[in-house]
Amino acid sequence: MALRDILIIPDPRLKQECEPVAVVDDGVRALLDDMLETMYAAPGIGLAAPQIGVMQRAIVIDVADDKEKPQPLKMINPEIIWESEDVATYQEGCLSIPDQYADIERPVEVGVRYLDENGKEQEIEADGLLATCLQHEIDHLDGILFTDYLSALKRNMILKKVQKLQKTKQSA
Ligand code: NI
Repeated sequence: MALRDILIIPDPRLKQECEPVAVVDDGVRALLDDMLETMYAAPGIGLAAPQIGVMQRAIVIDVADDKEKPQPLKMINPEIIWESEDVATYQEGCLSIPDQYADIERPVEVGVRYLDENGKEQEIEADGLLATCLQHEIDHLDGILFTDYLSALKRNMILKKVQKLQKTKQSA
């Protein structure tokens, strides 16, 4: 396993659509392990492959809190197959948009179909934080960031703050 570098906005790879994974092999399994390790180290609750510059449809998620046992989810080619009409608002953040948060409204429940790390088709139903996280990570695979749901003004403000923060970090 290895820690990977997380891409930060405005890296153009974060705005690209990813290719489906054709074969679930050891390379894909190693990628998912690296993604989980990178996500836990960050720390974060979700990570999509394009965030480490791998343009393939794979995500990892763990929304367990500190007191719970880890509940890692590894998903290949995940697809939202249904969503509720009811919506909920969560304050979202993103490892590619460090230290910035915004309230985003999304369907409160979703169904997701995906391949597990053995290439077996699985389906889950989720609500609450997990449903939000699934939608956020699957959005990454289509080059969509949570800031894309905000006004251009807010989006640009966030970009400027991130760029300023990155500059400070680099010169520190
Ligand atoms: Ni994100």
